[in-house]
Amino acid sequence: MSIGYRAVQWSRSKRVYDLIAAGAAASFIVVFIAVGKAAWRGEHAVSDEVLFLRATGACALALLHVVLCIGPLARFDSRFLPVLFNRRHLGVLTFLVALAHGVVAIGYYHGFGSANPLLSLLTSNTNFGSLGAFPFQLLGAGGLLILFLLAATSHDFWLKNLSARVWKSLHMLVYAAYAMLVGHVALGAMQTDRGVLLPALVIGGAAIVCGLHIAAGLRESARDRADARVRGDDGEEWFDVGPAMEIPLDRARTVCTPRGDRIAVFRHDGGVSAVTNRCAHQGGPLGEGAVIDGCITCPWHGWQYRAHDGCAPPPFAEKIATYQVRIVAGRAHVSSRALPPGSPVPPARIEEHADVRAD
Ligand code: HEM
Ligand code: FES
Repeated sequence: MSIGYRAVQWSRSKRVYDLIAAGAAASFIVVFIAVGKAAWRGEHAVSDEVLFLRATGACALALLHVVLCIGPLARFDSRFLPVLFNRRHLGVLTFLVALAHGVVAIGYYHGFGSANPLLSLLTSNTNFGSLGAFPFQLLGAGGLLILFLLAATSHDFWLKNLSARVWKSLHMLVYAAYAMLVGHVALGAMQTDRGVLLPALVIGGAAIVCGLHIAAGLRESARDRADARVRGDDGEEWFDVGPAMEIPLDRARTVCTPRGDRIAVFRHDGGVSAVTNRCAHQGGPLGEGAVIDGCITCPWHGWQYRAHDGCAPPPFAEKIATYQVRIVAGRAHVSSRALPPGSPVPPARIEEHADVRAD
C-alpha cells in the first residue's frame, strides 16, 4: 500500500522466498549442464556456450510456466497463495535468467563478425517465409523485450502511475511473450534437435498452462451461473448468497451480478459484510482472501480493508465499494448496488449456531 515511491520492502519471508527461487534456478542450471555434459558426448558433443544457452533457455522457460500456472492453481487450492503473493519476484527472476541466455546467444552467434551484434541479430536472417529456417532468434528477442518491460514496471510505483487498468493490460502481454517463446523453441531448437523430449516438454507445458486457465475460467463461470436473484419489496435487487452460517468463518462467498460485478460476502465477528471483489491494488480477488487482524486481506499482496466501510486501516488511504447486506430466514442476501467506495454499512448480524470454519 505505497502512498509515494518506496524501494522494494524486503521482509524476512520475501527474502526466504527469493533465496529459494534463485537457489532453485541456479541448481536447475548446474544440474542441466552436468547432465548435458554427460549425455551429449562424441558426435553429439556441444560447446560450453551452447550448453549454457540450453540450460538458461530451459530454466527461463520453466520459470515462465510456473509464473503462468500460479494464478489458476491458487484459485483451486489456497496452499498456492504464498507463491502467488510474490509472483512478481519470480517474473523478475525469469527475466534475469532469460537475459543471461539472450546476451550469451547474441555474443556467441553475432559477436564475432564486423557488424554490430544487435544489427546482425535483426538482419542476418530474414527467411520469414520458411518454417525450417525461420529467424527464431527474433521471436526470442521479442519475448525478452516484453519480459524486460514487465520486470521494469513490476514495482508498485509504476502501478500507481500507470493506473491499475493500464498496468494490468500491460502485464497481460506476458501471454504474448509466452507464445513468442514457444515459437522461438519450436522454430529454433526443435528444428535441429530431432528427439522427442523437447517437443514433449514444450507441448506438455503449453497444455498444462492452457488447461489450467480454461479449468479456472469454467469453474468461475459455473459459480456465476449458480447465483440466485431475489427482488425485495423495497425494489432493491438482492442476491441470495446461501445460509449465512455456511460462509466459512473469516472467509467469503463470491457472487456475480448480471452486469459482471463480483461481490465478496464475508462472515466475521458474528455478522456478514460485503465489499467489491476487486482489490484497489491490482484487482486481486478479495473473496479468495481472509479476514486477518479484523481486516479483509487480499490474497495477492496483502492489502487490507475494513469490512464495515471498505477503507484501508490508517495510515493508508485506499477505499473500495461496499454493499448492503441482510439476513432473511438465516440466509445472507446482498444488494447488487455498489455504494461509493468507503461507505459505512453495518454488518448484518446472524444468530450464532455451530461455526463452519475455513479449511
Ligand atoms: C535475444 C534473445 C534471444 C536469443 C538471441 C536467443 C537465441 C537462442 C539460440 C541461438 C538458441 C539455440 C541454442 C542451441 O544451439 O541449442 C536458443 C534456444 C532456446 N532459447 Fe533462446 N534466445 C533468446 C531469448 C530467449 C528467451 C527470452 C527464452 C525463454 C524465456 C529463450 C528460451 C530458449 C529455449 C528454451 C531454448 C532451447 C534450449 C534447448 O535446446 O534445450 N530464449 N535461443
Ligand atoms: S491485488 Fe495486490 S494486494 Fe490486492
